Amino acid sequence: MTDATIPHDLAAKLVHPATYATEDLFNTYRWLRANNPLGIAEVEGYDPFWVVTKHADILEISRNNARFPSAVRGTTLTSQAGEARARSITGTPHLVRSLVQMDEPDHMKYRLLTQAWFMPANVKKREEDIRALAKQAADSFAALPGQCDFVKDVALHYPLRVVMNILGVPEEDFGRMLRLTQELFGASDPDTERFKAALSDEQFAQLLSDVVQDFTNYFEAITADRRANPRDDLATLLANAEINGAPLPPFERTGYYTIIASAGHDTTSSSTAGAMWALATQPGLFDRVKADPSLIPALIEEAIRWTTPVKTFMRSAAEETKLRGRRVKQNDWMMLCYASGNRDEDVFPNADTFDITRTPNRQLAFGSGAHLCLGQHLARLEMRILFEELLPRLKGVSLDGEPRYSESFFVSGLKALPIKFEMA
Ligand code: HEM
Repeated sequence: MTDATIPHDLAAKLVHPATYATEDLFNTYRWLRANNPLGIAEVEGYDPFWVVTKHADILEISRNNARFPSAVRGTTLTSQAGEARARSITGTPHLVRSLVQMDEPDHMKYRLLTQAWFMPANVKKREEDIRALAKQAADSFAALPGQCDFVKDVALHYPLRVVMNILGVPEEDFGRMLRLTQELFGASDPDTERFKAALSDEQFAQLLSDVVQDFTNYFEAITADRRANPRDDLATLLANAEINGAPLPPFERTGYYTIIASAGHDTTSSSTAGAMWALATQPGLFDRVKADPSLIPALIEEAIRWTTPVKTFMRSAAEETKLRGRRVKQNDWMMLCYASGNRDEDVFPNADTFDITRTPNRQLAFGSGAHLCLGQHLARLEMRILFEELLPRLKGVSLDGEPRYSESFFVSGLKALPIKFEMA
């Protein structure tokens, strides 16, 4: 126990998924920023980790990838048992090897394969396709009887459709993709269907290995198809991509498909639901944005700050280093708390107020540095288009029950948003 040690009850909250579904998360972060902005959490069953809660520190660590690499230790918080499982399957602390788990020189080589595709000018070329999906979403919304759960009825499906459309997964496989990504990332959740029967660590490891294998089999079939029948989609790009003059190795290829299939829907749906929550609850906001659609991008940016769908990513220290006056040792593990950075009073006046007039809005929900979210332009574009399609058709919207939030220290957000609405 040192000065840096975080009080045990607070540290325990940070590893407890249920905390992330409550206001308690923000109270914990507020206390840490004020009293121990770079502290160590020591919780049984987990290796100790630094908890990084200030905006400036999150940016410093994210922008110095050589000093704070991603590949060496788990990139998401994992218990010691979870890490042992991953090691028994892949020989590394990671279950998959995607961009997120890579450092240089591999990371940039792999990122460059799709980076140009995700740039604004190219993503804009998909605007027509995305608008067609947004119109479908707005049509089904308009057909509802004046009340709905906006998450279940709109926010969950639309971003999934957008991502599957750009990746090139056929509609009949959307359900399978959703299930596989949930199994991969929610394996520790006692409700995850496939894992209910696991009695021992060995059985659990076997089941997890089956999920990874299912993913691999699915994407290997897509790869074979796109090599024979190239199309205008990301699967074709990945199937035919080369690294160092050879096709992508299967483990890395699966990792690439997996990150694109999984990173873009739960995240974007959380922010989409957050924007609707604000329209339904903030006095006058709906009328202002409806009257002036040029405010939609500001609404979306603030919804992204407010919801911060990716709650944490982990880094480690490549060497002993000083940060905020503290000595971080080589190989120490560090948790970047994006949702805390996005409520940092030093950067956001009235940080706990939803305010679309923040200019600039320095939210860091997409991270920063070499791993800065590749899908950020796509996420903003698809959210803007959805609200451009929804707002002109709506006359008013209000809450119709208690919103509920999902429980995860990785990607979390609104799980249910009951609303009442009137069409124009
Ligand atoms: C509001 C929506 C989104 C949020 C909040 C978000 C958040 C993030 C964050 C925080 C990272 C950084 C990881 C790190 O530093 O280790 C990241 C990386 C990434 N995101 Fe997103 N994301 C969103 C939407 C999307 C979409 C729509 C896609 C594409 C389909 C996408 C694809 C990726 C990829 C491929 C990476 C890895 C980049 C790399 O490691 O070089 N994301 N995202």
